[in-house]
Amino acid sequence: MRVLICHDAAAAVARAAQILQDTVAARPEAVLGLATGGTMEPLYALLRARIADGALDLRQVTTFNLDEYVGLAADHPQSYAATMRRLLFDTAGIGPDRGHLPDGTASDPVTEARAYEAAITAAGGIDLQVLGIGRNGHIGFNEPTSSLGSRTRVKTLTEDTRRANARFFGAQETAPEFAITMGIGTVLDARACLLLATGPEKARPVAAAVEGPLSAACPASALQLHPDATLVLDPAAAADLRLRDYYQLVHPDGGKARL
Ligand code: F6R
Repeated sequence: MRVLICHDAAAAVARAAQILQDTVAARPEAVLGLATGGTMEPLYALLRARIADGALDLRQVTTFNLDEYVGLAADHPQSYAATMRRLLFDTAGIGPDRGHLPDGTASDPVTEARAYEAAITAAGGIDLQVLGIGRNGHIGFNEPTSSLGSRTRVKTLTEDTRRANARFFGAQETAPEFAITMGIGTVLDARACLLLATGPEKARPVAAAVEGPLSAACPASALQLHPDATLVLDPAAAADLRLRDYYQLVHPDGGKARL
């Protein structure tokens, strides 16, 4: 695992954006795995700015988002489909033909999940999977005790995750109970993984993912098995790492070059 500790959250976001940009520069038709959540919002804002100033062109990429809420149609404002259109796809020129998310209103979510997994395979697999991390160590919506070999499927969200997501919903709405999510095995199939974590709420799960045992109790610890996994952190998210000094020695200030 490559642990890059940047001097603040803005620098971490810029570092993550640079890794994504390098991937697309090397392969303009790259297949990108994308995430949602608060951590991703400044990342997508920066990507939009780079598209606007001509430094980034995502018109040839194909994308697969990690997850979508079951029961939310693509035009529901809190669906991840609508969120991705607002935060990235509309600016990047990524239409529904290339910007993929599971269909939260599929009549048979189990079949939809299998079809999503098959679509990733048919696209040639994911070149770079972008990830956030939940306070309980989840990646995508693979909650603790998800099989480390799991594939795209329907998952029940924990109360903690639903509480954390409630901030995106109005007072009259309840955060959905179920999601279709790529599995941990699906994530591990990506040729490279990039996890971005910022803020003190992520210190514990990040430490468990990097330095804890490989365990379904912390789904993000599965990244220990991945040969090309990069974690980009701000100092707050890195605060509980025992070997913080070592990571900073190997990659001073978040690492200028991707060694
Ligand atoms: C959603 C996803 C989730 C989030 C995680 C962190 O697509 O992948 O795993 O990354 O819940 O969310 P924030 O960034 O809101 O703390």
